Amino acid sequence: MFNQRVKIKELLSWKPEQQEVTVMGWVRSFRNNQFIALNDGSTNQNLQVFAELGRFDEQLLKRFTTSASLKVSGALIPSLGKGQTMELKATSIEVLGDSDGEAYPLQPKKHSLEFLREIAHLRFRTNTFSSVFRVRHSLAFATHQFFNSKGFVYLHTPIITASDAEGAGEMFKVTTLPFDNTPRKDDGSVDFAEDFFGKATNLTVSGQLEGELGATALGEIYTFGPTFRAENSNTSRHLAEFWMIEPEMAFYDLEDNMNLAEEFIHYLIRYVMENNAQDIEFLSQRLTEEEKQWPQDKRSEMTLLEKLHFVSGNTFERITYTEAIEILVNSPAYKKKKFQYEVKWGTDLQSEHERYLVEKHFKKPVIVSNYPKDIKAFYMRQNDDGKTVAAMDILAPGIGEIVGGSQREERLDKLTERMNQMHIPVEELWWYLDTRKFGTVPHAGFGLGFERMVQFVTGMTNIRDVIAFPRAPKQAEF
Ligand code: 4AD
Ligand code: MG
Repeated sequence: MFNQRVKIKELLSWKPEQQEVTVMGWVRSFRNNQFIALNDGSTNQNLQVFAELGRFDEQLLKRFTTSASLKVSGALIPSLGKGQTMELKATSIEVLGDSDGEAYPLQPKKHSLEFLREIAHLRFRTNTFSSVFRVRHSLAFATHQFFNSKGFVYLHTPIITASDAEGAGEMFKVTTLPFDNTPRKDDGSVDFAEDFFGKATNLTVSGQLEGELGATALGEIYTFGPTFRAENSNTSRHLAEFWMIEPEMAFYDLEDNMNLAEEFIHYLIRYVMENNAQDIEFLSQRLTEEEKQWPQDKRSEMTLLEKLHFVSGNTFERITYTEAIEILVNSPAYKKKKFQYEVKWGTDLQSEHERYLVEKHFKKPVIVSNYPKDIKAFYMRQNDDGKTVAAMDILAPGIGEIVGGSQREERLDKLTERMNQMHIPVEELWWYLDTRKFGTVPHAGFGLGFERMVQFVTGMTNIRDVIAFPRAPKQAEF
């Protein structure tokens, strides 16, 4: 058997007593022709391998270049040197794969995140990105654990759909039709009858509509999958391909929905603080370092660690959209004309407004509810005032909108009326409307943008640094 290695993370928790072990990993550095810093991806901490002078062939030593992969066996002994409590005194070292140290793009110095994005195929080999991706994994795992413990069913909703769940028209088309010689009808429009599915299809923007079908039978479901949006937003918070977690619950109203979302976010943060303590500590220090380059007013008052403790230990502020507008209009920022976009009841909150509420006014996450119906999707439940819908967005410091959700319109007549007003094709969504015909129930749900959550927890300021291979306008490398 080849793989009888001990992972470095595990090994570093032992007491060194001459145990015979084998480790495998990549060389981070090699100094004084004796000391190899070996990393295997299980932790940011390297294992010091001690290659005693004279014990190994000169030719072999030359191959311990940066990023060469090694298999090392030896005995674990206490270390006399500074910086580590133990080291592996090697009895055998095998080079599994050589690395041209000169050509290797990751030199032992600080690289900018922008540069690392260009070599995203190698950036997992840095401390920052290995921490980010271990934390991302934990958040995914914790998500399943959270919903499973509550008896939710994980529903796999389709990636290719014929509907536009958000009605916003931001879809990538899926087709097998040729680009040249596209079959057309007499009126010149594309004839999808000849397409693979026999109709126009696209990549899903949200699993919600199918999620509602599940919830109105299984009770409580959640989806967790990739979603796609062809919105041309070149920002640090938007991706064209991102992952979303969408729980959908029968017998829930808006308040139940908010309670669940808040509990979920608290759970995720506590989970990583407990299970990824070293990574979070590292990322917190990294952010503090990064912020030293920023203007004073952009720096946070708390370190990442302090912020996570604070957010997971405190309830979120809850206000209505109407109250949010009042706060903004009465703010010093508004009076000093610091907002670029208009603040007026009926218009959507821009990111500058969201950030003001969260970062300056409340200094904690805020749940904003009951938005004007004209700026929200067709499926949201209409409130009695005739102007607003039972929507809720959760806004987080440094991120803005992290969750979007609502109670759903369960009344068939109200729903079809709204769909007609908003030009949503009622006939095509016949299956969606069936849930309102056969035992309709109050129900609600939300979508948590997974990458935005990873950003929040890791303190990474650009969303492209929390997904392995980002998809964004003009960017589909790797
Ligand atoms: O607010 P959104 O558009 O809501 C929905 O899609 C609903 N169907 C969810 C539901 O009720 N089941 O998106 C939900 C969340 C946002 O709050 C944001 O965190 C994230 O998804 N999101 C994006 N994340 C990265 N890149 C983008 N382009 C995103 N668009 C939305
Ligand atoms: Mg939204």
